[in-house]
Amino acid sequence: MPKGVDLRFDFSLVHEGNLRNGEGLTPAQMARATGRAQRAAEKLASRHAAGEIGFPGLPFLDKEARSLARYAAGMRRRFTHLLVLGIGGSALGTKAVYEGVGGESARKGLRLTVADNVDPDGFFPLLRSHPMKTTAVVAISKSGGTAETNAQLAIAIDALKRANGKKWKEHLVLVTDPSKGVFRRFADSEGITAFPVPPNVGGRFSVLSAVGLLPLAAAGVSVERLLAGGRWMESVLRGAKREKNPVLVGAAVYSHYLTDNPKPAHIWFTYGEGLARVAEWWQQLWGESLGKKKATGRPVGQTPARAVGVTDQHSQVQLYQDGPPDKVYTFVKWMEGREKGSVPAKGFAPGMEMLGGRPLRDLFDAEFEGTIGALWKAGRPIVRMELGMRDEAHLGAFLHYWEWVTAIAGECAGIDPFDQPGVEEGKIITRALMGEKGSAGRREAFLRAMRNRVRAEIRLKGGRPPRGERRRPSSRRTRRGGR
Ligand code: PA5
Repeated sequence: MPKGVDLRFDFSLVHEGNLRNGEGLTPAQMARATGRAQRAAEKLASRHAAGEIGFPGLPFLDKEARSLARYAAGMRRRFTHLLVLGIGGSALGTKAVYEGVGGESARKGLRLTVADNVDPDGFFPLLRSHPMKTTAVVAISKSGGTAETNAQLAIAIDALKRANGKKWKEHLVLVTDPSKGVFRRFADSEGITAFPVPPNVGGRFSVLSAVGLLPLAAAGVSVERLLAGGRWMESVLRGAKREKNPVLVGAAVYSHYLTDNPKPAHIWFTYGEGLARVAEWWQQLWGESLGKKKATGRPVGQTPARAVGVTDQHSQVQLYQDGPPDKVYTFVKWMEGREKGSVPAKGFAPGMEMLGGRPLRDLFDAEFEGTIGALWKAGRPIVRMELGMRDEAHLGAFLHYWEWVTAIAGECAGIDPFDQPGVEEGKIITRALMGEKGSAGRREAFLRAMRNRVRAEIRLKGGRPPRGERRRPSSRRTRRGGR
């Protein structure tokens, strides 16, 4: 076990004995669901042994990790900034871990930015903010065929060439499939350094591969400890007794709310800096892995949504409390924070004296407990998870935990958690619309369908507002009118 990993999983508020409204799991349901999760985990383990799926093995690829870390150390000597180009599973894991450990202020390394959008109003200013003479660009695409990342890469190469002339290739690294795709062909033909993503690991399960490890190591994150956390979670899954196994119990509980007592939505409420990014990573993992059609054509899935504590208590909790009982909740928190500051002892409005002299964290923690308590009172099913520290080992273990829980939940639901036909469909249409060779028929068919659709558009496009309304409402007029 990596030094000092402490994860707390609390499933008590999904037990029917605590909810008493038919929304919880009875002991018999829990036993059945855990048995099903265990069988699913065993099936996934044999698929892993057969080489069909790769994510469980990633924490054990020490040799690869060491060579990535060595390369990243060289990058740290040569550059000041690191710009990662990628989207979805090629971006979110890096963002989650980097922000999770505390980002730039917590780790000494290249200044890391992840560009995961092609909105020109965001991308171009971001690129311009980088000193391209001392910037390394890491472009990540497992398939190599994602239009967004290809467009970003072409633009970034142009900027690298302008700043560095013939040396532009020294600033560029690709991460992609070991043998297939546009990126791989480009790397091979141009002699650009490229690191492989194992073919049996899909984007959203790839954070512990070169996809996450290279940029994170370059940014000063300890990838050794990240992997150690993942390995620790593997040992927990394999070693802990069924009823005490947080992976199996978690997978059982969430599968229950996915298919047996289906809740259309799963809300992650995070309490702690950096966890909102982890929630974004989870959101893709959960949504894209489990939102599928079964072989029978029946849809499965659960809308993953994020809320940030305490801010969203004042925007979303009303709905969660009194709205439809169509959600399961996961509360995630760091056990301890970094800042120790307190509220001053004096200077209070009457009635707020209880805050005086108290650490601000006491209030934060009370909000966490209070929100869970209120939702429990309203009969909502809640799981709470706490991570001992904001460090690599905890995050490696936690992300790997969720990869397993998601995969097992998908297996229990009878769908393939590792494909993403819906995302691929969108990519195909985008490329066709952009004029991809050989896709003219597809483009025409799509445009025809759009032209022939029943229209219900309203466009508001005016000149100047009518005269009377242009005048600023005058307080005098209002007052007079009121007399
Ligand atoms: O999880 C997935 O497979 C997807 O979200 C991909 O990561 C995303 O579409 C980007 O794909 P690629 O890495 O092939 O560019």
